[in-house]
Amino acid sequence: MKNCLIALAAIMSLLAVLPGCYYDVEEELYPNTGCDTLDVGYATTIAPIIEDNCLNCHSAAANFGNVTLEGHNNLKTYADNGQLLGVIRHESGFPAMPQGAPQLVDCTIEKIEKWVNDGAPDN
Ligand code: HEC
Repeated sequence: MKNCLIALAAIMSLLAVLPGCYYDVEEELYPNTGCDTLDVGYATTIAPIIEDNCLNCHSAAANFGNVTLEGHNNLKTYADNGQLLGVIRHESGFPAMPQGAPQLVDCTIEKIEKWVNDGAPDN
């Protein structure tokens, strides 16, 4: 009877550990689950993000801080000079954007990084 209890305890602890192994392996195989940065384009991906999060203050009309992000040419200026990534990553030396709102979610930042690193094309 005592051996039987020990065996039972051993099986129970094994069962408790198994799911942990399973998830560890899955994370190694698919590190970026849920964030697809393969098809990032200005018109389809980037412009809508900027419109939703930034144009309240940075449309041509609003122009807060003398910064206009409306239209590809204007946004590209800030992509090329490093300020776009600096402000959305909340790097030191840059004012954190979007001002007065939570930081953009990781996947959104990754998409903008991908586009900037591609040379900020008008695609
Ligand atoms: C609520 C208004 C507001 C929103 C929303 C906002 N900004 Fe700004 N932004 C400002 C103001 C005001 C300044 C200038 C004052 C300052 O430097 O803090 C500024 C400055 C900037 C600058 C210039 C940074 C520099 O180093 O001089 C950039 C680039 C910028 N914003 C990008 C963005 C981006 C990208 C978003 C959206 C993710 C965004 N902003 C959302 C108000 C806003």
